Amino acid sequence: MKKSIIDFRKMAEENKKIVYLTAYDYLTAKYQEKAGVDMILVGDSLGMVQLGYETTYPVTMEDMISHCKAVRRGAPETFIVGDMPYMSYQISDQQAVENAGRLTKEALCDCVKLEGAGPEIAGRVRAISSVGILVMGHIGLTPQFAAELGGYKAQGRSADAAVKLIRQAKELEEAGACSILVEGVPAAVGEAVTRQAGIPILGIGAGSHTHGQLLIYADMVGLYDNFTPKFVKQFAHVGQQLQEAFQEYCREVRSGSFPDDSVHTYKMSADEVEKLQ
Ligand code: KIV
Ligand code: NA
Repeated sequence: MKKSIIDFRKMAEENKKIVYLTAYDYLTAKYQEKAGVDMILVGDSLGMVQLGYETTYPVTMEDMISHCKAVRRGAPETFIVGDMPYMSYQISDQQAVENAGRLTKEALCDCVKLEGAGPEIAGRVRAISSVGILVMGHIGLTPQFAAELGGYKAQGRSADAAVKLIRQAKELEEAGACSILVEGVPAAVGEAVTRQAGIPILGIGAGSHTHGQLLIYADMVGLYDNFTPKFVKQFAHVGQQLQEAFQEYCREVRSGSFPDDSVHTYKMSADEVEKLQ
């Protein structure tokens, strides 16, 4: 049965880890649901690991809606979080509410996620949650703010910076966030944020103490190899397997060993074949 935010709160209280992965398409979502993943993020990492852009900036609402719909078709019984792409919420509360509404109403997401902290972002979280849409915050290494952070760098590595992150998490919680994702911080910071929060804290590259763990699926199956962050563990080498399968297909087609007409073709009676001659 599909888990709800109530279940995730309970899991956090009972110290049961929440398993969270990204997905971008029907087939991946289908296998994740079969595997028992608790929560799926259709991240705007879509731009990098599926659409081939160098950053997440070019991803549009239309891209997100199309991929969220595909993931929903693959995982009808899983809690799905739809990421709000760059410039879909930065401009105003109204823009943020409208676009969050599209992700839930058109794409059937259970929750939306947006990056950042501070009074403006807390205001967006308040506006979205006040119309009854679940919002997940995202702090630490936030790729949509990479320009401001000076690139894709670990965050919260000084005590001052860590205290600031803890304060940001509190502010987002007070603004109505149902959960917060913390990305790219030392384990001690992930632990401190988790200890002080009253909502489920999910981590990616934030150590083992958060209530749940997220990875980008294309990283953890060894599919996306342009860049692999330190916090990724590869559970498979799917990219290598795909390449080998494609190479074998090339070899067999070129040598004529595929297709084998005794196996890979439709049958026709000998009489009918005769008439063809
Ligand atoms: O877009 C995404 O997949 C994300 C994670 C990297 C945190 O936001
Ligand atoms: Na994202």
